[in-house]
Amino acid sequence: MDLFAAERYDELVKQLEYHNHRYYVLDEPEITDGDYDALMQELIAIERDNPQLKSPSSPSQRVGGAALEKFSSVTHLRPMLSLDNVFDAQQLADWGERVAGLLNIAVESLAFACEPKLDGLAVSLLYRDGVLERAATRGDGTTGEDITANVKTIGSVPLRLAGDNWPSLVEIRGEIYMPKKGFEALNKRQEAAGEKTFVNTRNAAAGSLRQLDSRVTATRPLELCVYSLGEFEGGVMPEGHYDTLQQLKSWGFITNDHMRRVIGAKALEDYYEMLAGERTGLSYDIDGIVFKVDSFAHQDELGFVAKAPRWAIARKFPAEERTTVLNDVEFQVGRTGAITPVAKLEPVFVGGVTVSNATLHNQDEIDRLGVKIGDQVVVRRAGDVIPQVARVAAPADERTPIEFPKTCPVCDSPVAKVEGEAVLRCTGGIRCGAQRKEAIKHFASRRALDVDGLGDKLVEQLVDEGLIENFADLFHLKPVQIAAMDRMGAKSADNLIKAIAASKETTLARFVYAIGIREVGETTAATIASHLKTLDAIEKATEGQLLELPDVGPVVSRYILEYFANEQNLQQLNALVEAGVTWPVIEEVAVNADSPVAGKTVVITGSFSLIKRNDAKDQLAAMGAKVTGSVSAKTDILFAGEKAGSKLAKAESLGIEVQNEEQLMALLNG
Ligand code: IVH
Repeated sequence: MDLFAAERYDELVKQLEYHNHRYYVLDEPEITDGDYDALMQELIAIERDNPQLKSPSSPSQRVGGAALEKFSSVTHLRPMLSLDNVFDAQQLADWGERVAGLLNIAVESLAFACEPKLDGLAVSLLYRDGVLERAATRGDGTTGEDITANVKTIGSVPLRLAGDNWPSLVEIRGEIYMPKKGFEALNKRQEAAGEKTFVNTRNAAAGSLRQLDSRVTATRPLELCVYSLGEFEGGVMPEGHYDTLQQLKSWGFITNDHMRRVIGAKALEDYYEMLAGERTGLSYDIDGIVFKVDSFAHQDELGFVAKAPRWAIARKFPAEERTTVLNDVEFQVGRTGAITPVAKLEPVFVGGVTVSNATLHNQDEIDRLGVKIGDQVVVRRAGDVIPQVARVAAPADERTPIEFPKTCPVCDSPVAKVEGEAVLRCTGGIRCGAQRKEAIKHFASRRALDVDGLGDKLVEQLVDEGLIENFADLFHLKPVQIAAMDRMGAKSADNLIKAIAASKETTLARFVYAIGIREVGETTAATIASHLKTLDAIEKATEGQLLELPDVGPVVSRYILEYFANEQNLQQLNALVEAGVTWPVIEEVAVNADSPVAGKTVVITGSFSLIKRNDAKDQLAAMGAKVTGSVSAKTDILFAGEKAGSKLAKAESLGIEVQNEEQLMALLNG
């Protein structure tokens, strides 16, 4: 290889890294964009001729590369938690008092970090030996998506850490967001190109990060602001949040320059008032303020409740409200036949989006609001929350009462009210077109069979054109039928057929969730699958067997039994299996007879931050424990998480051994 090229290459990498940092992080460029581009082109040319020189942290990664088929999933090294919210001054002060009380410190002398709550997407960045190895979305907190290629295109993300005192492995967390100016410019560009525009900065950031083609992400004005550490190995941890941010800055990251370390509860409120006043003048959107106990020693002592730390709180800004007119009410039929009244509103811009529909939930809610068609109503929307009709602002002179239909608006079957439920339901079952559509949408959705590209609109189109009536019909679709539909061509038809075929290989848990048994969500489906292990066993399960499963109570078990007692449902399941839907056999787990809990009767209650309760149950069972649902004199150990409640009280009164999350994890980790 050309020695000169290698030398020049190293020089270019250094220069590009330096100028990138000056431009994106310090906002103080030293050279023109044109000069920067010229250096980048030279680098890319050397890489093309000498591919062995190119590393995963090369500045050339910033322009994006070949498109992905799909994002792979990533299990976080530590769960990514969320924040609890408060909505007013009193609740914020109470939180301050509460954490100080738990720490046994006067709140007047406790140090807090205060910073804006950026309205973007949380990301986790993993650096090994100072080099960015992986970037992932938060996902459900336990697993997210690998968006490394996209994140590398963001100028303010260091591909290598600056400075030298970094640990061998460090996970850095922060928010990727789109500044207001960039958002407006992007929407102008989209509009000019006849592409869809984004409703707010958050959606624009999300849409830009979820691109399979990183070259598209590279053109989007995204920024990273970091605010915490996750996994940390082989280095010295800072002592608190404030120090962490200083450290992160020295490694080349942007941190929020509104962050302040303050002492005492009064300062929290002052900070809120100050920043709320500056909110509209900020160059990015925020939806609240985050307050954190500064010291890591204090944070450790405070720990977590369910999915959020006790040591942090978000004070959300009040939801935005606007007045508009209720023009009409339509009735929508859901997957389980529930009939929902939907308010048709005079379009109004509130909370960052234009709202023309809002749910009115059910008759009880309509009665509570006392609303009639024609009224002026107040519509409220906060952040990502579904818009609500908050109250009647002024009744109209001529008001039409909202009347529920006597028959289903879609299939004309009678509508029935079930004892004890607020909702009305269509009794048409799968004879009802609306229920059928919703059932198929659910069946194909991401957490069910996950048919890539089969979105809600397409399902409606397929049903409306009479191409499918039930789940199994999907697997018999022909490319020509799809290609003949509106807005579809040979290529998209081909992709859809491939995606449908690929979805046949699934898991039993997904399958049980996909078929849409009432009240059987993802977690219950996973429990049923892992305990009963085969579809046959699930079909034949008795009420007694079902009630033994964790989280299955009398209501859920009744729905399961009803589902499998229905001949049509059984035929549908058969048709699916015949069409080739399969899942891996669930192995009997070898039981470890030597473990400390072998043969013991244990109960697990409350919430845990490091493990899902159902996973802990499975692992305990695999270790030979008998996991039961209620505490009695026969119980040997109670594993109690946060908010353990009555089971803990009972165990204590019976003198039963109680172990906490830490002890549970130690046991499971051997
Ligand atoms: S701390 C365990 N700090 O808010 C603490 N989060 O509701 C977790 N967010 O998923 C995060 N700005 O996406 C923290 N300054 C900030 C934040 C922030 C925005 C987001 C983040 C998180 C969500 C939690």
